[in-house]
Amino acid sequence: MAQKNFYLTTPIYYVNDEPHIGHAYTTILADVISRFHRANGDEVFFLTGLDEHGQKVQQAAEKRGRQPQEHCDLLAPRFIQLWEKLEIKYDDFIRTTQERHTRIVQQVLQDVYDKDDIYMAEYEGWYSVSEERFITDTEKDSGEFRDIKKIQEKNYFFKMSKYQDRLIEHIQSNPEFIQPEHRKNEILGFLRQPLNDLCISRPKSRMSWGIDLPFDDEYVTYVWFDALLNYVSGPGYGSDEAKFNKWWPADVHLIGKDILTTHCVYWPTMLFSMGVELPKTIFAHGWWLTGDTKMSKSLGNVVNPLDLIDEYGVDPVRYYLMSEMVLGQDANFTMESFIKRFNSDLANDFGNLLNRVSGLIGKYFDGVIPELGELTPSEQPVVEKINALESQVAESINQLKVQEAVDQILQLVRLVNKYMEEQAPWRVAKEDLSAAGRILYTATEALRVVAVHLTAVMPDKTRTVLEVLGALGTGSQWGQLTSGTKLKEHDALFPRLELPAE
Ligand code: MSP
Repeated sequence: MAQKNFYLTTPIYYVNDEPHIGHAYTTILADVISRFHRANGDEVFFLTGLDEHGQKVQQAAEKRGRQPQEHCDLLAPRFIQLWEKLEIKYDDFIRTTQERHTRIVQQVLQDVYDKDDIYMAEYEGWYSVSEERFITDTEKDSGEFRDIKKIQEKNYFFKMSKYQDRLIEHIQSNPEFIQPEHRKNEILGFLRQPLNDLCISRPKSRMSWGIDLPFDDEYVTYVWFDALLNYVSGPGYGSDEAKFNKWWPADVHLIGKDILTTHCVYWPTMLFSMGVELPKTIFAHGWWLTGDTKMSKSLGNVVNPLDLIDEYGVDPVRYYLMSEMVLGQDANFTMESFIKRFNSDLANDFGNLLNRVSGLIGKYFDGVIPELGELTPSEQPVVEKINALESQVAESINQLKVQEAVDQILQLVRLVNKYMEEQAPWRVAKEDLSAAGRILYTATEALRVVAVHLTAVMPDKTRTVLEVLGALGTGSQWGQLTSGTKLKEHDALFPRLELPAE
């Protein structure tokens, strides 16, 4: 696979509350994809951060009796610490109150204003406080919006409607732009109706926590017009041209399906007006549900990622989130499925393979990795799977099918466990020690390759495996395990969990 520059983003999270598993999910997903790309030799820019302006944050601060900036400064470390605990290796962390961002937002606003793409108008309409935007009559009648009030005020509008046809044309001629396919169709459906212009200001008399409009200081910028620009201010738009050109256009904006319209309609039309290329792909994943409802703080059904990590460790949590959700669809978070997956994939399949090979190498070879000797036809399926795996994984990752990539890797684990059963090195060792050596070398080598591939998902435990095998820093091709290496002592990788009593 040719190496390249790869720029990936997560949404920037509102600092209105503590991060929950939904936020952790998108961030882990981005981290896993980044790590796979880095392992493939790509140069990666992984950007995440915080959305600190707007009504939600202002209200959260008021509720706690704090100034908004103070509130943001208090909450930002909770996100940063959680990302550290979750082994998230981002390249940049942007906060929309940073000067490097606010300056760019003002610059873009001025630019778009100078191009005559922003105008002022009197507006009367229904406003959803929880969604922070004006809604149409149809939306109001749908019953899906809470906190609705009628507002009449003068505001600034971005001429979004002007770019409607161009956007439709772009979506149709770039099949990779909005993924998965059903989300693309959703947006094209939405674009069949005439597009309204976008209200991009809030009068300070109503909401003051935002970036001042450069051409009218009685207004602040609508939070989405501000937040979306983080994707370009992060890599240096308007300040560091070489850096920006290196990374833009972004390869993937990862988002949840709840923020599809803002990303697939507002954002591209803003970029059209700015005269900047569009990102290559916007990928919307589904929701984590508990029962049949979205996990959300306001519904009081969130899973706290910190509790899970404390109890089960970081790697199983990352593994579960990556393997349980088919990207693009919703998934149900239950402790039962967590424990089942832990026991079957991690304890029985992966962890047990390490125990088996190190136990047998300890027993028959004094804990020293034996010689491979001559390969026989029995090893062929294992060797072939290893040789195929690198491109299978890369291909799945390129299509953002993380779950499929994990599954491919686990297939190797299962294949080797079956190979061990069939070859029974514990029996062979009694008659032909070198044949037992060949079998154990092969199984241990496969275990090493599995650990190398799974590093992106479980950086901790795979490191332990590679340390035990004396194979840190090795690649994913067959034959890099060194015979004669003494295995290091280790504990069980993933001790089985009991299902909680009903
Ligand atoms: N601040 C905006 C995004 C601006 S991006 C320019 C925002 N923030 S948010 O804090 O509400 O987080 C939204 C993102 O968190 C979702 O798009 C999704 O990626 C993730 N999730 C929040 N709850 C989730 C679930 N229950 N399940 C999966 N992901 C969820 O919107």
